[in-house]
Parts: sequence; C-alpha cells; structure tokens
Amino acid sequence: MSNVTNGSRWSAAIDQVRSRIDQTLTSLDGRFPHWADAKTGVWTTTADGDWTGGAWPGMLWLAYRRTRDPKYLEAARLWSGRLKPRAKLQTAFKGFGFYYGAALGDILCHDEDAAKLALEAATSLKGQFDERLGLIPLGGDAEESEDVGGSFSSIDSLQAIPLLFWAARKTGDSSFATCAAKHTTRVLDVHMRPDGSIVQSSELNPNDGSIVRHFTHKGFSDSSVWGRAQAWGLVYAAIALAHRPQEKRWMEQLIAGADWWLANVPDSMIAFWDFNDPAIPNTETDTAATAIVCSALLKLGQIAPSEELRARYRSAGERTAAALVDGYLTPVGDHESRPRGMLVGACFNKRRDARAQDSATSAETIFGSYYLFESLNVLDGLVEADKI
Ligand code: GLY
Repeated sequence: MSNVTNGSRWSAAIDQVRSRIDQTLTSLDGRFPHWADAKTGVWTTTADGDWTGGAWPGMLWLAYRRTRDPKYLEAARLWSGRLKPRAKLQTAFKGFGFYYGAALGDILCHDEDAAKLALEAATSLKGQFDERLGLIPLGGDAEESEDVGGSFSSIDSLQAIPLLFWAARKTGDSSFATCAAKHTTRVLDVHMRPDGSIVQSSELNPNDGSIVRHFTHKGFSDSSVWGRAQAWGLVYAAIALAHRPQEKRWMEQLIAGADWWLANVPDSMIAFWDFNDPAIPNTETDTAATAIVCSALLKLGQIAPSEELRARYRSAGERTAAALVDGYLTPVGDHESRPRGMLVGACFNKRRDARAQDSATSAETIFGSYYLFESLNVLDGLVEADKI
C-alpha cells in the first residue's frame, strides 16, 4: 500500500478512535474506564484507576496534542489529577498509570501539575527498589490476578521504567535512571527464555534474588507464552533503549523477542491470548497484546541498529496497525448499539482466578486502545516513536 493511502488510513482511524474518546467523555461518572463490552461499549470502571486508569488521560493528552482542542486538555488535567490517591501505593505497576496518565502531560503538553504528580509517584516508586533482589518487586498493593508474594516479579513490572527514566530526565537526578536500568536488566534476564520468548512471572529468593520458580499469573500455563508477557517485555525494552541506546544486551533481547513474536504470530498479525493455548485457532485473540507490540515494533523501527532492521520492524509495525484497524476497530454502523472507534478483541483475563473487575474476553481495554492510538499518531507523524 502506498504511503498516501496509508496516510489517509491512519488519520481516518485516528478520527474513529477520537469519536470513541468523545463518547467515553460523556459516559463516565467520575470513575476510570477499565474495559468495555464489545457489543454495547459500556465501560466497566474503577474508582481510583487501578493499574490501567492512566491510559485514559494518556489518550486525552495525545488527543489534545493532536487537535489543540481545549476540551481534551481540560479533561486530561482532570483525569490525571484523579490518579493522585495512587501515587504512594506499593505497586510496580503504578509506573504505567503515572507515566501515561501524568508524565505524558509533561512530555506532550508541558503541563506542570501533571509533571509534579508524576514526580511524586516516581519518587515513591524508586523507594520500592530492593537491593537484594536487584529489582522493584511487584509490591503488596500490586494489582494482579492472585498472590503477589513478598519477593515476586513479573515482566509486567517493567511498567515501572518509563516513569523512572522520565523522572531522571526531568530532574537531572541520575538515581532514577540507575534504578530503571537495574530493574530493566534484572527483569529481562529473569523472564526472557533463551529462544526469545518470555515467561510472565517469577518467585525470587528474598535473601539473594536467585530464581525460585517461574510461573504465570494470567497465561495458559507456567511454560506457555502469554501474549501480553511477550508484549510488555518488548515495549518496555524499546522504551529503555530509547533512553540508553548503549545497552547492547537489551537490544539483543529486544530483537530476539520481536523476532520470536513475528515468527509465531498468525499471518493475520493478531495474537491469540496465549501462544500455547491448545484450542488455537478456536480461542480468544488479544488485540491489547497486539497493540502493545505494534507500539514496540514502531519504536524498534526507529532505534534498531541498521537501516535494514529499522525498515523490517517499521513495516511489521505498519502491518500490525493495519490489521488492528481493518479487523478490530469498530466502524460506524456495523452494529446498532455500539460506538465506533472501539478496539475490540482483547482478552483481559480469562482465568478462573481473575480479579472480578478483570474477568473479560473479546472486549475493549483502555490500555489496548491507548497503544493503538499512540501507534496511529506515530504513524501519522504527530510524535516520534522513540520520544514517547
Ligand atoms: N499486569 C498487566 C496485564 O495484565 O497486562
């Protein structure tokens, strides 16, 4: 497909997602969107934002940067501020909410209140680093499906690092970046298998950080590849490398992980929820995992060490975005009662031990929608992939 055709495809898709943002803005009553029913578009919400909530102001910061419509700035500031009660929670996952929900307000819109809030959360997050484990453990408040232990880790906990790297850049205090780099190295080493696939979770020895066992909180089995485990590993390795391009081992791991994804994802480019579910192809897709990987591939398309590699990953990112838009972004009028611009086909958590608020399949998730919206804005030229 030509660049011109692709260009109009991306901007049309952005308009679609923006109409869903507008519709969501009028449908919320002070609670954060978490996931939505694919048939009705009705959001399941959380009071404080849970780990996902920052994706919502993240979409609003992007919408404001794109349109300069003050309604998005006002809403982004409102929803960003509502994250404040979570700033000191003991969870590695708050890096997600306060990076996309607050730090992005600084990066994209130079919003000082958002920067202050992001810094408060980053300072608390840095304090969670455990020297004996060599990483930030999940934490007693971590929002997972089951036991988070005292010395548990997961690839998902790389969600901590964009906020820490941002804080280092914002303040000039290198201790944030040192903490982020140690966490990145240890979490990638613990969870990436030799073939480039990623296991979600681990229990570590609290005395010396050695690995006691690997397991999964949300995947099919302890030896399977849960789609979002692979996805989180890729997107955060890419963000870490955007801050520290000299880290050769991270780049080798990122490329191994991306190549594993591209070798194993179906020709449709859309991942099933777990690559090892024996019911494939008669099982759920995870478009959230796919959208996260789309973002990672576009970043790799910018930072990979050769022109050939950059072209390869950029093209894979474009094909992934096109597959999401063509197959899973609800168009106008396809179903009488649902809004347009929803990214459906996400599997939040299909396990029996899912938290009640996460028990959803074939749904729209606020974080999947965030990563698609980010990717579309990258493809449309609003922001460079490695700056976000
Ligand atoms: N813990 C992050 C996720 O469910 O993807």
